[in-house]
Amino acid sequence: MKRRIFLALLTLSVLSLALFSCAPGESDTGTAGGGAGNEIPVGEYGSLTGSTATFGQSTHNGIVLALDEVNAAGGINGRQIRLYTEDDQSKPEEAANVVQKLISQNQVVAVLGEVASSRSLAAAPICQANRVPMLTPSSTNPQVTEIGDYIFRACYLDPYQGESLARFAIDELKVRRAAILTDVKNDYSVGLAKFFKEAFVKMGGQIVGEQSYSEGDSDFKGQLTALRASNPDVLFVPGYYTEVGQIAIQSRDLGMTAPLLGGDGWESPKLLEIGGKALNGSFYSNHYSPDSPDPVVRTFVDKYRERFGANPDSLAALGYDSMKILAEAMTRAKEIDSTQIRDELARTTNFKGVTGTITMGPDRNPIKSIVILEIRDGQITKRTEMSPPGMAPPPAAAATTDTIAGGTAAPSPATSTSPAATP
Ligand code: PHE
Repeated sequence: MKRRIFLALLTLSVLSLALFSCAPGESDTGTAGGGAGNEIPVGEYGSLTGSTATFGQSTHNGIVLALDEVNAAGGINGRQIRLYTEDDQSKPEEAANVVQKLISQNQVVAVLGEVASSRSLAAAPICQANRVPMLTPSSTNPQVTEIGDYIFRACYLDPYQGESLARFAIDELKVRRAAILTDVKNDYSVGLAKFFKEAFVKMGGQIVGEQSYSEGDSDFKGQLTALRASNPDVLFVPGYYTEVGQIAIQSRDLGMTAPLLGGDGWESPKLLEIGGKALNGSFYSNHYSPDSPDPVVRTFVDKYRERFGANPDSLAALGYDSMKILAEAMTRAKEIDSTQIRDELARTTNFKGVTGTITMGPDRNPIKSIVILEIRDGQITKRTEMSPPGMAPPPAAAATTDTIAGGTAAPSPATSTSPAATP
């Protein structure tokens, strides 16, 4: 009798072991999650090498920092997260390949990535088709989340970024004549150029010249010579850091003195290394300011510096926020199942991140504030911060922020100029 009970118990435990310890690739539950032992498999794809390598590297560091915090605090209701990271070499085709691999081989229940919009656009349809939620930390092109209801982002969008840059050029730089140099190989650059142009013209500005290049080019003298002839007050360069650095140098070599203005694609520790003094007096928009007094930012910056010996750029901050948002969604989900994680991601409300407070809208995009940075004598400092209409300004800036109503039709983002950086 006792022996029979013992045997029955033994059979039960062997069965449950077999059920719960299936390795990645052996799960029979579709996207409900394999993972070694009881671990939850999560995928990350990014540009760890290639033309925009610092984007992927910084994002990865931010993700790992958050991941270790979550796991150290007990994981997701007792289960540890296992991160599978894939390098797409800064290539869209490769992004699609590695995401397919994360889903079919590693059976990840969710995917974090990419930074560059063209790469997110290449991989998102695969996540959507497999019903695996994807959260891009930093792709700002509107089309990314339009791919489908499994695609989310943790950052603001380019219509807002372009409008804010136009507002800054008109109101703070007091310029009216802008020239644009677009990277036609990147959806991000093409989109941001268009949104800036529309807003700038609507605000009374004039686009005096437009030229283009392709990511990977290194000689921009022809385009710059043509733009110089149009005598712009400002040169808008919505590209990525490698080319931006070279464009700055070549524009100065040609005697152009107009300040350069750009978007978040400039953000890299390599920007100043490449562009050096030629970037003096230029401005670009970004997702956060590492010198914010907000305690969430202070703790993050200290921990990041301690671990990686470097200052966290905005990619690191967005990577960190994205991992935390995903972990919170997984904690709320009743089961670790891709559909439930998707539903909980969609319910993200008032998440207090390093890059601001994040609430997912019905279109899976958050509404966030934007920071404009100034490059002066090898230093990058916050020049101003703007919040979209109707959004409360960030707490640290509340005292100096003045919110003006408006929308895309009557764009007047509220601005708060940091007193220290006012010329
Ligand atoms: N927003 C850029 C894109 O969509 C990527 C980026 C984000 C680059 C933040 C730098 C910093 O392509």
